[in-house]
Amino acid sequence: MFSTYIYRCWRNKIKLLLSIANDSVLLICVNTRLYYILRLSPDYSQIFFEKKLPYNNSFFRGKMVRAWLLSEEKVLTPKYISLDELYKTSGVEYYQIDTNNYEDDPLLKNLIEQRDNHFVNKVEHLDDSDLIKHNTEHYHEHDEFRLIIHGCGYFDVRDKYDEWLRVEVIPGDLLVIPGGCYHRFVVDGNVEEFKGLRFLKDYGYKSYPRPNDEMDCRKNYMRRLYNGAYDDPKE
Ligand SMILES: [Fe+2]
Repeated sequence: MFSTYIYRCWRNKIKLLLSIANDSVLLICVNTRLYYILRLSPDYSQIFFEKKLPYNNSFFRGKMVRAWLLSEEKVLTPKYISLDELYKTSGVEYYQIDTNNYEDDPLLKNLIEQRDNHFVNKVEHLDDSDLIKHNTEHYHEHDEFRLIIHGCGYFDVRDKYDEWLRVEVIPGDLLVIPGGCYHRFVVDGNVEEFKGLRFLKDYGYKSYPRPNDEMDCRKNYMRRLYNGAYDDPKE
């Protein structure tokens, strides 16, 4: 007989999600970002350890991308938003790319062609100064394409109300951040193993840290946001 039940427990700020199917138990510890697969004895009196997996394993996340409003009050109960809402309130686009074969991925090829972002820049071997640079709020003059190849992290982008929206990214996730949109990025987990790619319009790729609201690209971006340019969901 197949039975499943899920309950959430909050204890010492540790969030657990437990699911039982037949004799297997999936235990998710959100705080430590680990999944455990356990096996129950036939009478359910004992539990045997089977496997430990990282939380960002794409097998578990599948195609569900998580984005949420980042504010102090929402730490324990994040207000998740859809990718359409992300686009509507910030202009940020999300695409899923085949990382094993990204050079031939038709979607990526199309985007690069359409937006003329032909220059490829590797994001890896990040040192402390790189990490600080990525995590400092800034914008660029042109759209920034960011593809995650290995590892995971968080992109924070400012929405039209100047609130942070956080997007969790794992391998295969491509974000297109519009020129003039303030954002920052932080690697989650092992920095040495992180690998990403940027697709750029040119190599003269500058970052403009906040505050810097006088550039034309910034003014144009804000105009587009408030004129409803991003109101219709991307196909
Ligand atoms: Fe950037």
